[in-house]
Amino acid sequence: MTATAPHLLAAHRQLLAGTTLAELFARDPDRFARLSFAWDGWLVDLSKERVGADTLPLLVAQAMAAGLPGWIAALFAGEKVNQSERRPALHTALRRPGDAPLLVDGHDIIPDIRAALSRMRTLAAQVRAGLRVGATGRPIRAVVNLGIGGSDLGPLLVCSALAPPPRARASTGPQTQGVDVSFVANVDPEHLTRALAPLDPATTLFIVTSKTFTTQETLANAASAKAWLVAALGKGVDVNSHFVAVTGNSAAARAFGTASADVFPLWDWVGGRYSLWSPAGLPIALKLGFERFEKLLAGAASVDTHFREEPLERNLPVLLGLVGWWNATQLGHAERVVVPYAQALFRLPAYLQQLVLESNGKRVGRDGGALTGPTSAALWGEAGTNGQHAFFQWLHQGTREAPVEFIVPITATHPLANQQTLLIANALAQAQALLVGRSPEAIRTELLARGMTAADLDAAVAARTCPGNRASTMLLMPELSSYRLGQLLALYEHRTFVEAVLYGINPFDQFGVELGKTLAGPIVAALAGAAVLPPGTDASTRGLVAHVLAQPGLTGR
Ligand code: F6P
Repeated sequence: MTATAPHLLAAHRQLLAGTTLAELFARDPDRFARLSFAWDGWLVDLSKERVGADTLPLLVAQAMAAGLPGWIAALFAGEKVNQSERRPALHTALRRPGDAPLLVDGHDIIPDIRAALSRMRTLAAQVRAGLRVGATGRPIRAVVNLGIGGSDLGPLLVCSALAPPPRARASTGPQTQGVDVSFVANVDPEHLTRALAPLDPATTLFIVTSKTFTTQETLANAASAKAWLVAALGKGVDVNSHFVAVTGNSAAARAFGTASADVFPLWDWVGGRYSLWSPAGLPIALKLGFERFEKLLAGAASVDTHFREEPLERNLPVLLGLVGWWNATQLGHAERVVVPYAQALFRLPAYLQQLVLESNGKRVGRDGGALTGPTSAALWGEAGTNGQHAFFQWLHQGTREAPVEFIVPITATHPLANQQTLLIANALAQAQALLVGRSPEAIRTELLARGMTAADLDAAVAARTCPGNRASTMLLMPELSSYRLGQLLALYEHRTFVEAVLYGINPFDQFGVELGKTLAGPIVAALAGAAVLPPGTDASTRGLVAHVLAQPGLTGR
């Protein structure tokens, strides 16, 4: 099947270009009912997006032409949808209930997953009960995850979203719940130093999470963590019991000193940014308990079933992906903004940046051919209401339009007076303001009534006018529980896949991040005084290296 004829999409786009969102609402009294989609307690309202009554059928036709149902089936069946690396992308297998076999190169991976989950459950129970001890025999009380990118962002997001508020805890006595879990990703020594400052080396466990176990930042932090332990516990003490590793490179983890029993698998059929459901989610199980980790998996599994089975016309990740593709490629939006109205989700934009941009920031198709159109919009955001006092001015009155995704859990996890009502009202009001704006006529009338003189009036009216007619999606979720968060993250994973299918790209590789890593090698050597820059290094990089070398403050040489 060929794609929807470009001239049909173009004609449709032009038709809409001359129509405001307000006019679309005025023309169709059922627009909200027609374009809002309920599923399992969720409501996804697309009625404020720049789509007309005929747009979704056109987009569904486009998805059919791109072979989306076949791609969805291939994803779940473990076909090698990551063609450039000749691998499946089986994050969905990690949360799949039941023991039906799932073969990768003839090997059933389900027993491997069950075994890894069982080991996670055991370790989480041991640590949380104070039964895992460090080199001095004292129980582990704090855990630090050392990892970056997908080995950091997902687990960090889940832990920060679902952790109960900190409470005073006795420093001695039996440990009955949780442990302190912190995350260190950055190679900036400040990150590790700050994380370690309040911790007792004798009671601290490090999880080195790295699929490759070659990532410079993580290995540097792991080496510094080991040095910190040795400095505190003594040179003769074996500190390896203070480390567990989550990796696809078990040999390297063992070479680092980690006991085989403390090495958890990270398979090559899971992408780093899709790995929080795997042993990379160990910090989640340690912080929240394995039962809540299982609920997270169950929530994601419910979205997997929905994504596989629901007709495209009512399939939430499909609809979100279609509108995302429409906005990025047909309406030309180079950016999209995600605003979770939940402080607990303040790390969501950072997590989505890796998920979406590492997946869909590509310029060639699956066959290596150059793409003719744009791919993913850039993504940024901040928790609401905080973002309202930062970049919403740009959204309401700037010269560019970026569609906004509002994500709003309805029920407060920790109710405080009327604050949840204030929060939700703000989300709804901002989406409404983007839609309706504020007309110059209304402002003029108001300012005249307040006695403004004619001399100041025009400029004052212009400065206050909000054009409106700016698109947004509203995702209302019942609450922010483990199950619902699992649903939210799986929704975004699948929506990202849908967009990739429409762009015609492979969302599961990330070769673009390799170049900077490779080029860092000679610069590290030059800054360390171990080598000179290779011939052919550009003049700017040479100049910057020379400047840094001339500074007295550079350490590590
Ligand atoms: O940033 C590139 C990247 O390869 C990500 O895809 C990955 O999540 C991250 O680095 C960390 O990689 P690893 O888990 O191998 O340390």
